[in-house]
Amino acid sequence: MRQTERLTSDEASLARAAEILRRGGLVAFPTETVYGLGADATDAQAVAGIYAAKERPSFNPLISHLESFEAAQKQGVFDETARRLAEAFWPGPLTLVVPVAPTCTISDLARAGLDSVGLRVPAHPLAYALLQKTGRPVAAPSANRSGRVSPTDADHVLGDLDGRIDAVLDGGSSQVGVESTIVACLGGTPRLLRPGGVPREAIEALIGMTLEAGAEGGKSPLAPGMLASHYAPRARVRLNAARIEADEAVLLFGAQPLESMETARTALNLSKNGDLVEAAAHLFSYLRQLDASGAATIAVGPIPETGLGEAINDRLRRAAAER
Ligand code: TXA
Ligand code: MG
Repeated sequence: MRQTERLTSDEASLARAAEILRRGGLVAFPTETVYGLGADATDAQAVAGIYAAKERPSFNPLISHLESFEAAQKQGVFDETARRLAEAFWPGPLTLVVPVAPTCTISDLARAGLDSVGLRVPAHPLAYALLQKTGRPVAAPSANRSGRVSPTDADHVLGDLDGRIDAVLDGGSSQVGVESTIVACLGGTPRLLRPGGVPREAIEALIGMTLEAGAEGGKSPLAPGMLASHYAPRARVRLNAARIEADEAVLLFGAQPLESMETARTALNLSKNGDLVEAAAHLFSYLRQLDASGAATIAVGPIPETGLGEAINDRLRRAAAER
């Protein structure tokens, strides 16, 4: 249980909220769509805290919030269409999913391991002030517990998350009330991934194109891996391994040793002292590192199904099934 601070719009409160974010804490803040549950997007451990607070049983890519289009261009690659959309609708209730830039600092966990990134510049004076003071991209899904409705004021946030987050920045009621529209610009015709605050018609009128349907059920296939909504390693994934086979890459959790570890090609431990929040923070980057070792199989030791273990196991099961 944490003491959740209720902060307001004065300078001292904003400085306090930014300081909490910069040291890895969780701050709910107002945007024009809904309140977001923010964490430093570059800090995977802080992002893991979002999932723990929301009790969310699976990891999906999160939207990272930025103070300006200029700051967003450090994180993602904007093609002509994405640039026009950003210039027309930012700040505002539009999220653009674009390829990751070489200078991207957003953590693997915030991107759920994908090579693309969801970016948004919100139109709310407090959100802007907070992002500017924090000076880093802030990952933020809606500030509610999993399965509950998205909050549009600070009381809603506290009703769900009091004692589970460090602070809520009270900026009154959110104007839009529904989440941002999400458009993927990953080459070819842009796709509407989620309807929201900016109407489809406004987007189509600006770009002079009809948006394709979302990730699932789209008509024309994209380049491989471009819009896969789940990161899947190249290697086969073997779960709940008790014994290691020759030349496997191994993903461990906790102090419990597995049999025949000496035959492993390489091994990484998600959290030696069995901390599931730390394990979540490492999950995607460790999977990538083990995959890059060239092993045909990644063997994964047992991970408890409690707390963030549920989301970790969900993601590993998808990685094991995909093929
Ligand atoms: O209005 C909003 O957008 C609110 C406020 C707080 O800004 N935020 C919000 O964030 O709804 P979030 O993190 O819950 O949105 C996550 C969704 C994912 O479910 C996915 O649809 C999409 O954003 N998304 C983010 N990054 C993506 C990526 N790289 N590829 C595909 N979809 C992505
Ligand atoms: Mg939500």
